[in-house]
Amino acid sequence: MDVALRRLRAEDIEQVIEIEREAFTPLWLGTSFKRELNNRYARYLVACQPEQTGPAPDNPSASVADAAPESRPADASLWGRMVRGVREMVGKEPPLNGAVPDIAGYVGIWFQGNEAHITEIAVREKLRGQGIGELLLIGSVRVALENGSTVLTLEARVSNFIAQRLYEKYGFKEVGIRKNYYSDNREDAVIMTTSPLHANEYQELFGQLQAAFLARWGEINISC
Ligand SMILES: CC(C)(COP(=O)(O)OP(=O)(O)OC[C@H]1O[C@@H](n2cnc3c(N)ncnc32)[C@H](O)[C@@H]1OP(=O)(O)O)[C@@H](O)C(=O)NCCC(=O)NCCS
Repeated sequence: MDVALRRLRAEDIEQVIEIEREAFTPLWLGTSFKRELNNRYARYLVACQPEQTGPAPDNPSASVADAAPESRPADASLWGRMVRGVREMVGKEPPLNGAVPDIAGYVGIWFQGNEAHITEIAVREKLRGQGIGELLLIGSVRVALENGSTVLTLEARVSNFIAQRLYEKYGFKEVGIRKNYYSDNREDAVIMTTSPLHANEYQELFGQLQAAFLARWGEINISC
């Protein structure tokens, strides 16, 4: 898998807003990602193309990432497919003032007391079902562990079975319902939480899930 996780940067915000708009209802109150960048009680991660550091063979002064998109060899990797998928989606013209989009998804985590809380998680529609949501969740658990948070919690629409399946896979259990939580259609939210993250039981589960992810999708490249 040639998708990496890293912290959100200011230059990612335009694309992250695009993904947020695509993923959530038009009435969703958009996140102020700019403000969140400076929030010491939050961490935002993006799934993106791994950083390219080496020079292109035919041009020692330029990195592969600098090369004009059309001059890069077509590749069958997830990243190559993603770029082509997004191009197809938007027509011939690449979006974002000519820049090739390089953010596949994002997740927001807030630290509230002893707990870490996932506020939003979303993957570009065209790229779903390829392990990117799972990678973002692995990153969230790692961030919560590093922060010393005892558990990871979140809310999901009762109708959002796909997201709930993902969370259940990572040991989240339903612990309650918030009635009429979503203002657009007054839908209830299911509150989900993990068991204690540092306990052996969760560590074992998380270890097995990461190993299975690795076997299925390949290398996990996380720098957050
Ligand atoms: C939820 C979301 C982030 C999942 O991302 P994704 O990249 O498509 O998910 P992955 O490919 O990593 O799949 C991971 C797991 O999610 C669940 N899942 C994903 N797609 C699914 C589907 N179509 N049906 C059922 N479960 C599904 C499965 O448990 C899957 O694990 P598996 O492959 O072992 O079965 C993505 O669907 C999304 O962006 N949705 C819109 C925004 C949203 O609803 N966010 C959640 C708010 S609470």
